This record gives sequence, structure tokens and C-alpha cells, in this order.
Amino acid sequence: MTTILHLDASARVTRSLSRHLSQRFVETWRAHRRDDRVIRRDLAADPPPHVSEAWIAACFTPPQQRDAAMRAALAWSDAAIAELEQADVIVIGTPMYNYGMPSALKAWFDQVIRVGRTFSFDLARGDRPIEPLMRGKMLVVLSARGEFGFAPGGLRAAQNHLDPHLATCTPYIGVAEEAIHTVAIEFQEFGDERHARSRSDADARVLALAVELARLQPDVATELQAAVTSSSVAPASSAAV
Ligand SMILES: Cc1cc2nc3c(=O)[nH]c(=O)nc-3n(C[C@H](O)[C@H](O)[C@H](O)COP(=O)(O)O)c2cc1C
Repeated sequence: MTTILHLDASARVTRSLSRHLSQRFVETWRAHRRDDRVIRRDLAADPPPHVSEAWIAACFTPPQQRDAAMRAALAWSDAAIAELEQADVIVIGTPMYNYGMPSALKAWFDQVIRVGRTFSFDLARGDRPIEPLMRGKMLVVLSARGEFGFAPGGLRAAQNHLDPHLATCTPYIGVAEEAIHTVAIEFQEFGDERHARSRSDADARVLALAVELARLQPDVATELQAAVTSSSVAPASSAAV
């Protein structure tokens, strides 16, 4: 079984293009893999708290030494990291706001990228002391922009601080650069026929991407067979390993 973590960050609920794309992706996926699980988090409806001094102090206190106030400061982060740990596929529906990610999505990254949980820090590694602890996840970024030309080589490529920022952060949530899939609707503010074309192209690409990635997942029957086989050959002591 595959677990999808479905995040949305648009402040718009009714007319959001990024929510439309992320919903279309997840629904298409579920149509092909009914038994897969979806964990849903609406970052606009339920915004992550901003990092505070108490939060930082709690993070850098060893877990066994944290008092009740420190545990409370980390509660939102703990819950969000638990969701992330379970996820095989992360789907992010997000607008571009002021050429970057919405603050609610940035706050989510600040809450989940945490020392000892999603990365380790060791000065013995010299100039690169930070190392991710999670691996093997896939990320699907479904976004919407009012302007256009944000792809590499485009008119506003240098102003795109959304996709490069996501790509820089995602190793720390277990996603390698080659495991990021991005589809964007552009021209929203122009409302012309270029926008209509961008919408229909994105719709088609999201549909095809969901089908393709869903088909790449291990088959449920194969997973069950593998579980049965490994439990029948596992040594008696394996449960303690
Ligand atoms: C606060 C705010 C900032 C925005 N900043 C940008 C921007 O920097 N570049 C851009 O192309 N569009 C910008 N837009 C337009 C949105 O990206 C566009 O409306 C998009 O469709 C929003 O996503 P949604 O439809 O999922 O809500 C901005 C919109 C808002 C509300």
C-alpha cells in the first residue's frame, strides 16, 4: 500500500487552481489504486505555527530532557513529521505568492525539517555537517501562477523562487531532485486564451502523471505475496532485529 500526503496551501478555497490540480491528481491516483491511503493537510485552513524561540530551544534539547512546555512547543511539528514519515508520495498544491511559496507552506517546511528527526548535524563532517535522514519519497508539485514564463529559459525564470526553493528543501524531507514532478498553470492574471490553454495542458499532464506514477507503484497483490513469502522464511529471531 502506498501512502500519499496531500498538502494544499492556497488561501483560495473555491476558485483555487492549485487545489483543483492536486485534487485531480489524488482522485485519479485513487481511481487506479483504491486501497492506497491519503493523509490530508490543508495548510491554509489550519496554518502551521511559526517557529519560535521556545520551539528552537526544545528542538535542541535531547528528547528525554524536554519538559512539558517543550513537548507542547513541538507538538505540531511532531504530528506533521509523523505524517511525513508515513508518506511515500507527497502532493503539494501551491500558488506562487510574491515569486515564492506561500508563508503557510514555508511554515510547514520549517516545522518538519528538524534536527534529529529529518536531518542530522555533525561538525565532524566538515563544511557539510547537515545530512538528510529520510529517503525514497516522491514529490508532486502542482502550482498556479498569475504571470508566466517561470520555466528554465523563460521570461521570468530568474524570478522563480518557488520551484528552486522547493528543490533545495526537499532532500530534507526524503525527496531526491529526480523524484520531483512539477505541473503549473500560468497566465491566471491575464485570463486570456493562453490561460485557458495552460489550464487544459496542465489538466492533461496531471491526469497522465497520476496514471503513470500510480502504475509504477508496486502492485498490492505483489506486496502481499512478498509479505507472505518473507514471513514464511524469516528466522524466528527476526522480530527482535
Ligand atoms: C498574495 C498574492 C501574491 C501573488 N504573487 C504572485 C507572483 O509573485 N507571481 C505570479 O505570477 N502570481 C502571483 N500571484 C497570483 C497567483 O499565483 C495566482 O492567482 C494563482 O492562481 C493562485 O493560486 P490558486 O489559484 O491556487 O489560489 C499572487 C497572488 C496573491 C494572492
